[in-house]
Amino acid sequence: MSNSHPTGAPVQALAFPSDTLLSVRNLQTHFLSREGTVKAVDGVTFDVKQGEILGIAGESGCGKSVTSQSIMRILPKHAKIVGGEILYNHQGQIIDLTAGDPDSRVIRDIRGKEIAMIFQEPMSAFSPVHTIGNQIIETIRIHQPVSKEEARGQAIEMLHRVGMPNPGRNIDQYTFNLSGGMRQRAMVALALSCRPKLLIADEPTTAVDVTIQAQILRLLREIQADLGMAIIMITHDLGVIAELTDRVLIMYLGKEVEYGSVEHVFHRPKHPYTRGLLASIPKMVPGRIEIEPIEGSVPSPYAMPTGCKFHPRCHDFIPGVCEVRDPPLIPIAPDHEVSCYLYGGREARP
Ligand SMILES: Nc1ncnc2c1ncn2[C@@H]1O[C@H](COP(=O)(O)OP(=O)(O)OP(=O)(O)O)[C@@H](O)[C@H]1O
Ligand SMILES: [Mg+2]
Repeated sequence: MSNSHPTGAPVQALAFPSDTLLSVRNLQTHFLSREGTVKAVDGVTFDVKQGEILGIAGESGCGKSVTSQSIMRILPKHAKIVGGEILYNHQGQIIDLTAGDPDSRVIRDIRGKEIAMIFQEPMSAFSPVHTIGNQIIETIRIHQPVSKEEARGQAIEMLHRVGMPNPGRNIDQYTFNLSGGMRQRAMVALALSCRPKLLIADEPTTAVDVTIQAQILRLLREIQADLGMAIIMITHDLGVIAELTDRVLIMYLGKEVEYGSVEHVFHRPKHPYTRGLLASIPKMVPGRIEIEPIEGSVPSPYAMPTGCKFHPRCHDFIPGVCEVRDPPLIPIAPDHEVSCYLYGGREARP
């Protein structure tokens, strides 16, 4: 964690392109418990440009949610950001979101207003004892100096925008009155009610059927284009990434394994793990569905492999190299980086 530029103070002398909204640099977030340390996120670097859609993908437990909780500063108590920076472009002022208290004024102003989040389970975004309208109105009024009536008008407009069938009536309903798809839309309305610059969507369509999934994704794309907001789309589903995102970050066991444009990473994948993930997408062949899962299983977070975390499952394992040290991230094309010794980085070994 950086102490040199506390939250609220502008970061000086750092290369920060003006079209970049968020720059996560070497983020390390660990869980500390009696059983040991879980390095949930262990050196992740990526940028989100204004208005772009970045995908984050990887198997369960690779640190996707902990990355987003770190950006939002909503980590559980026993989690600590132990290294790196999360630089956010707050109207031209660069703020390190890892510094300072999660409940500080600056972080509270950014969370929910500038950066909003939607989850897999809409019930976790809403309280069951208040109408969805009241919760959207309250969120609007925390961040904007508007009257209740004005906020109600904005809330109805937003419910209309996300495709609620009857916004004037839906606004006074509780989540238990709504179907799964409608709850999902209401959660999107809540997240967007302050017109955030960045929306983090953590598996927003995992719990809904494919028709609703397609509707929600279409909605996100429309709103993204309309409002010009950026989205971080976290998902297991590489089809969603291919369809929706501009760039993608592939993670494995808290590490960044490959990062770049969807064009590069999906059409010219370099890392054996990315290749494995792409090969494991179910394929329809006449009469059956073919699945080629990655061999082996994800190890326990308490017993991480040395060196490259993927080496025990890797067909291209180089003995004496891959198990010794973490591979560095190597640029292999403009907008394409990979952390694998197959593409260099061995000379950096001590
Ligand atoms: N509250 C917690 N306490 C302890 N360990 C945790 C906690 N939350 C996550 N972890 C650990 O951190 C690591 C990363 O978890 P995370 O939830 O970020 O994975 P994920 O990529 O989002 O997985 P999924 O695809 O299943 O949502 C895992 O090893 C997980 O066990
Ligand atoms: Mg998750």
